[in-house]
Amino acid sequence: MAKTIIAPSVLSSDFLQLGKDVEMLNQSSAAWIHIDVMDGVFVPNISFGFPLLQAIRRGTKKFCDVHLMIEKPERYITQFKQAGADNITVHYEGNLHLDSLIHQIKNAGCTAGVALNPATPVSVLTEVIHLLDVVLIMSVNPGFGGQKFIERSVEKVREAKTFIAAKNSSAVIEVDGGVTLQNAPLLKAAGAGILVAGNTVFASANPIETIAELAL
Ligand code: DX5
Ligand code: ZN
Repeated sequence: MAKTIIAPSVLSSDFLQLGKDVEMLNQSSAAWIHIDVMDGVFVPNISFGFPLLQAIRRGTKKFCDVHLMIEKPERYITQFKQAGADNITVHYEGNLHLDSLIHQIKNAGCTAGVALNPATPVSVLTEVIHLLDVVLIMSVNPGFGGQKFIERSVEKVREAKTFIAAKNSSAVIEVDGGVTLQNAPLLKAAGAGILVAGNTVFASANPIETIAELAL
């Protein structure tokens, strides 16, 4: 089985020392950096946008995983690519023209993911799963870091794994929200290939060690 990718979420970083945190991630075994863009409309929180992604891009060669929690993401795909995105994940919810949006992401030169909120079943991806590189299972309601993991998500990852195999898709399952050292092994056993971790990494006394442990 492929090694689990850990994607630390910089939403939990102390932005006053973002450069130091990015350097720490460069020294770590994290293969991806997860970047949560929130517009205060799609989710009840506002995070950051292009300047922060550009700054991170200047500081790292790691794969930049951009999670868009914004309305009408089709307006900004090219700009996110130009700012440094390698993967762009959009939500199923609120995107009426999902097929077109996925093609837009791929045509921009990024890999494409679709995120599912906790209340959205995996089956909604039936018509687009063959196009996807990433299926992101939200294990909290999106908007904030440091929330409690929704236990049902482990079963949902298992369902996604079966669904992806049945459709002969090569999509990898990413889990985002409340990932800890305790639930990480369960999520990996259920079929997750990418684990996002904000609070678990950035509140750790030894983030580099925690990143390595999450992947074990
Ligand atoms: C939540 C974001 C997550 C968040 C994860 O809406 O999508 O990526 O930063 O943070 P933790 O791991 O602290 O739940
Ligand atoms: Zn996220």
